[in-house]
Amino acid sequence: TQSGPTIFFIFGGTGDLTSRKLIPALYNLFLEGWMPENFQIVAMGRTQFTDEKFRGELLTDVNKFSRSGEAKQWDSFSQHIHFHVSDVQDPKTYKEMYERVQSFAQVAGTEPNVIFYLAVAPRFFATIAENLAAYKLTANPTKSRIVFEKPFGHDLESAKELNKLLSGIFTEKQIYRIDHYLGKETVQNILAFRFANSILEPIWNRNYIEHVQISVTEQLGVGDRGGYYDDSGALRDMVQNHILQLLCLVAMEAPVNFGADDVRNRKVDVLNSMRKFSPEDVQKNAVRGQYSKGWMQGQEVPGYREEKGVKKESNTETFAAIKFFIDNWRWHGVPFYLRTGKRMHQSSSVITIQFKDVPHQIFPTGSSEGWQQNKLIISIQPEMSIRLKMQAKRPGLDMILNPVDMIFDYKGTYTTETPEAYETLLLDTMLGDQTHFMRGDQVEAAWELLMPIINAWATKKSTSFPNYSADSWGPESADALLARDGFHWFTLP
Ligand code: BG6
Repeated sequence: TQSGPTIFFIFGGTGDLTSRKLIPALYNLFLEGWMPENFQIVAMGRTQFTDEKFRGELLTDVNKFSRSGEAKQWDSFSQHIHFHVSDVQDPKTYKEMYERVQSFAQVAGTEPNVIFYLAVAPRFFATIAENLAAYKLTANPTKSRIVFEKPFGHDLESAKELNKLLSGIFTEKQIYRIDHYLGKETVQNILAFRFANSILEPIWNRNYIEHVQISVTEQLGVGDRGGYYDDSGALRDMVQNHILQLLCLVAMEAPVNFGADDVRNRKVDVLNSMRKFSPEDVQKNAVRGQYSKGWMQGQEVPGYREEKGVKKESNTETFAAIKFFIDNWRWHGVPFYLRTGKRMHQSSSVITIQFKDVPHQIFPTGSSEGWQQNKLIISIQPEMSIRLKMQAKRPGLDMILNPVDMIFDYKGTYTTETPEAYETLLLDTMLGDQTHFMRGDQVEAAWELLMPIINAWATKKSTSFPNYSADSWGPESADALLARDGFHWFTLP
């Protein structure tokens, strides 16, 4: 499907996100025939670029970051790109945008879809939204959409305020809050896997599942984003959005259908049924960490407090591990352990569902090599796979069991290329499908859940930071969090 004529404005047109993610994504959509026949991409920014100069700059990045490699058909694609020298604070900008939309509409002979993508710092969100409305750019709720990059709010209060402001200007159907994890192929497959197969549902509950782990670790440090990150930390940067969304996909009830609101209703149910933390729970069930310097792949890397833009005595966590409970019939008593961190030993995002052990052991002691309970391992990246860990009899004349994997992996199964998360999500915005975007109440519910931890950590500074070295699996207390319950973090080899 393609949408009708579309004009796509990008605020923050000269930023990294535009050149590394948005333009390469739109370009790939174009190559694969998903872009509308008639479209314009208008990058907004203060730099005095001509269209031609700007297109040239983009090409360098597209060659570097696009999955389709060296640009083909760049000339025909880039003709659709314009640079609009502008200033988000200046009313003139919005007047000019209005005129641009009018003349595009005139040529197209119809009212176009108008998308406003805010790839800018959150402090500009309100100004831009208010001006768009004031200049009647979003007057038609079925044709105009506004997309927000994260972070959506800095805490519960600011998220509520922003939602309130936006709901006074737009309908919820016009608002697209991005969580790029929801555009990932393997993340989208979680619902397909759960709800297009009949054998999982009967065992997908507290009767069969012992615990769940969601681990999203990165080798990267904060790089040149120290300024932003030091005010955020792992809870705000990763848990509030990406990781809680993954948790919702694993834990949600079956929606009635795949409609945006049906899916999002079931997700917000999960967030609402998660047990809120008391101050004692924070002590007991939440672990924070900050990396110190170390060696990664033969290179010395700085500690977090030595990174550019980071305060020397920073109390910001670059690692978090939390044990949650979901208080409903399906999940009563099943712990959900989450962890995320920067400068970790491996970059991988993996969800592990560990099933309960067999009720009675018939095989004699000593007949198993490394007994493991059944696990379903959903690997989101870099490996894209689902594995079911089973016990099997090792071939041979004696009865020896060992754990084996039944594997579905994308590489071996499909020959088609996997689209980037942003391709999927940008296409959805053009088609007007909000299923994979965060609704306002979801964002607030996620903030609400985390606020006790965020507040406790802000008030009580850590005395042990830095407490894990680069290239490790995080602080020891994160291992202890599971060990206490008789578990350990699972990692793919
Ligand atoms: C972003 C965070 O939202 O997600 C980054 O701000 C993080 O800190 C990134 O590195 C991880 O995304 P991905 O797609 O590389 O797993």
